[in-house]
Amino acid sequence: MSKLIKAKIIGTGSYLPERVMTNHDWEKRVDTSDEWILSRTGIRERHIAAANQANSDLVYEASIRAIQSAQIDKNDIDLIIVGTISGDTAFPSTGNWVQKKLGLKPIPSFDVGAACSGFLYGLIMANSLIKTGVAKRILVAGSEIMTRIMNWEDRNTCVLFGDGAGAVVLEASQDESGIMSTYWGADGNLGELLYQPAGGSAIPASIESVKNKLHTIHMKGNDVFKHAVLRMQEAAIKAIELAGLTSEDIALYIPHQANIRIIEATIKRAKIPLEKTLINIDKIANISAATIPIALDQAVREGRIKPGDRVLMSAFGAGFTWAGVVVRL
Ligand code: UT7
Repeated sequence: MSKLIKAKIIGTGSYLPERVMTNHDWEKRVDTSDEWILSRTGIRERHIAAANQANSDLVYEASIRAIQSAQIDKNDIDLIIVGTISGDTAFPSTGNWVQKKLGLKPIPSFDVGAACSGFLYGLIMANSLIKTGVAKRILVAGSEIMTRIMNWEDRNTCVLFGDGAGAVVLEASQDESGIMSTYWGADGNLGELLYQPAGGSAIPASIESVKNKLHTIHMKGNDVFKHAVLRMQEAAIKAIELAGLTSEDIALYIPHQANIRIIEATIKRAKIPLEKTLINIDKIANISAATIPIALDQAVREGRIKPGDRVLMSAFGAGFTWAGVVVRL
């Protein structure tokens, strides 16, 4: 009898731009303080992409590392998915630019626009494509240059974000390892609580739209916070249940890093101890879709997780979108 096929993570990689900007650096630019940022969010510093770097350059760096760690020939990859909301160009997709930069043959490549849930949405899609035999070895990345789409004069948002990329290589598995459960959702009714109003067909670029900074992130932070807490909890709890596990079976929880207070509320409700939760928001801030794959790579490289471990990931973001995934390494 043939065993159930699922996607297994065979390699991880990440990349953070060299330049680091601290809360003290922000104090010099806007009316804020290290104390406010740290106590309200948990952030101390963030990485900022260099002027000559585009989103696909970050994905390229993370992907090369993921391919090396997977110990495969890059030409064995047969599909690319990039979770992002800050791609190189409106079109082609960042996935297309990455395929070019990696020098791969003309394999399908595309982006997923699910904001902070983009990487997990990509993982869920990749799992389905592998299960159905459409693809065999998929590169899934999450990558953002958030500092290019935020308003550097708006203290409500500018201190929250950073830049970076993470990637994984997935392949078909018939053993115990692989994606054990997936859970996802979205509610477009709440879209305007966190969005970039202009640049699409609703409000195309004009002198007026640029003057009013409509091409930058607009967020009702407090409202978003309340939904984030509920959906992060829901996604984490459902993903554990659907995997047929309890929170005690989870070796490491990797939450999306938007706010330390959201993470604390989530682990309390999902009954996950702090020691089993990866927190790196202090060092990298919120990098939207890139946050989880960067943290996953960090956990692998630091030896915090090993083959056989069950890892829980959950995210919440603009859309609103949310997702939870349990994977056995
Ligand atoms: O990535 C996924 C989606 N995003 C999120 O999940 C983010 C969710 N939201 C949050 O994390 C929090 O709501 C924020 C960190 C954005 C804001 O924290 P808050 O505790 O909700 O603060 P607030 O928006 O209620 O603002 C409190 C005060 C305000 O002053 P007044 O009106 O009380 O005088 C703000 O103007 O803090 C002020 N404030 C600041 N003060 C110093 C806002 N930003 C800053 C700042 N520095 N950078």
